[in-house]
Amino acid sequence: MSNIEQTLSIIKPDAVERELESQIKEKFKSNGFTITKEKKLKLEKSDAEKFYKVHETKPFYNDLCEYLSSGIIIVMVLEKENAVKDNRDLMGATDPKNAKDGTIRKLYGISIDKNSVHGSDSIENAKIEIDFFFNN
Ligand code: CMP
Repeated sequence: MSNIEQTLSIIKPDAVERELESQIKEKFKSNGFTITKEKKLKLEKSDAEKFYKVHETKPFYNDLCEYLSSGIIIVMVLEKENAVKDNRDLMGATDPKNAKDGTIRKLYGISIDKNSVHGSDSIENAKIEIDFFFNN
């Protein structure tokens, strides 16, 4: 039975600044993902605060929102079977120093903040995050 899912991916400012867009997209494509929607934009800090609302009680929330709104980002909808989990596996651990070889964060991440990519952590949040960027 086919289990096609969609997930939201963001190429973060550190990776856009280092011109890693095409390498990262190639990683998605060579791992079976189709990029069905995409846009390039710069968020206001208040938008980043809405996007990362689930983290609002965390000590890193303010820095995280400052950072996501500090430069251009590329937002994409990725589609494949089991897209949510497979994208998380392909991204690797949140902190690049704990990420496995071959993952995007191991290859390109600089630090836990500048970890190059964001990916939805559940099917439910993928729907919310896709709506946030594409259905308004
Ligand atoms: P992301 O997958 O975009 O989701 C939330 C982000 O918070 C995460 O990637 C990290 O870049 C950032 N972050 C900063 N500090 C932490 C931390 N201690 N634990 C988890 N995420 C953190």
